[in-house]
Amino acid sequence: MKFPFKKKTTTPDTLKVPEHVAIIMDGNGRWAKNRGLPRAAGHRAGADSVREIVRSCDKLGIKYLTLYAFSSENWNRPEKEVTMLMGLLEKFLKDKLPEMLEDNVRLRAIGRLDMLPAHVRAELDNAIEKTSKNTAVTMTLALSYGGREEIVDAAKSIAEAVNKGELSTDQITNDLFSSHLYTSDIPDPDLLIRTSGEVRLSNFLLWQLSYAEIVITSKNWPEFRHDELVTALEEYSRRDRRFGKVKPCNA
Ligand code: FPP
Repeated sequence: MKFPFKKKTTTPDTLKVPEHVAIIMDGNGRWAKNRGLPRAAGHRAGADSVREIVRSCDKLGIKYLTLYAFSSENWNRPEKEVTMLMGLLEKFLKDKLPEMLEDNVRLRAIGRLDMLPAHVRAELDNAIEKTSKNTAVTMTLALSYGGREEIVDAAKSIAEAVNKGELSTDQITNDLFSSHLYTSDIPDPDLLIRTSGEVRLSNFLLWQLSYAEIVITSKNWPEFRHDELVTALEEYSRRDRRFGKVKPCNA
């Protein structure tokens, strides 16, 4: 899909717009440290970037946005920071619900959600339910999420179906496996963006990112706003996605 975009002066007339963008939001702590602020200030500024980026996705025509908001490994951070992040998430869900409704955003969540504190889970379930009919951007928050854990959960669910006689092992294909993942109802990401210059996947969407293009930006997440998203799309637009095949002209 091509999208004419005029706002950012350095932007070419047409961008290739991915259907699904996944983002590893990194560098909140460094952003705060660089300014002599507490880490919590970095996470709060990161929550503002979330709001701007979901709106930008709508403007640009990106239908799915998946954000790595809290990993399985993040439970090992100091208790004070975990409590603060859970509080921020609860506040975000409560405060931003009217905006999500106004912006026609559908919220989803993936991960081991039963590990979230009950007060956060209640806000999450409420926001998911209230936005379930919305049709603009589908924003998926990865919470208490790990890619390996997701694959293990899918393997268990397939094994149970085999044990019950609902499935035979020769029916297990890539598509069948995908249908047992948390993301069964959304397409795989076309583009993965990671902020703050780190070049690793950190256990994020390990199955689904198989053919995604990866763009790394040195910006910390609180600085990642509309123009930075457009810059990432410009880089994506220059990529040649071949999915393991050869270009027709080389065939
Ligand atoms: C990485 O920064 C970010 C996180 C662990 C959490 C992401 C959370 C937010 C963007 C804020 C809230 C989001 C929502 C959806 C409410 P870091 O702490 O690892 O930064 P550092 O590597 O510089 O220390």
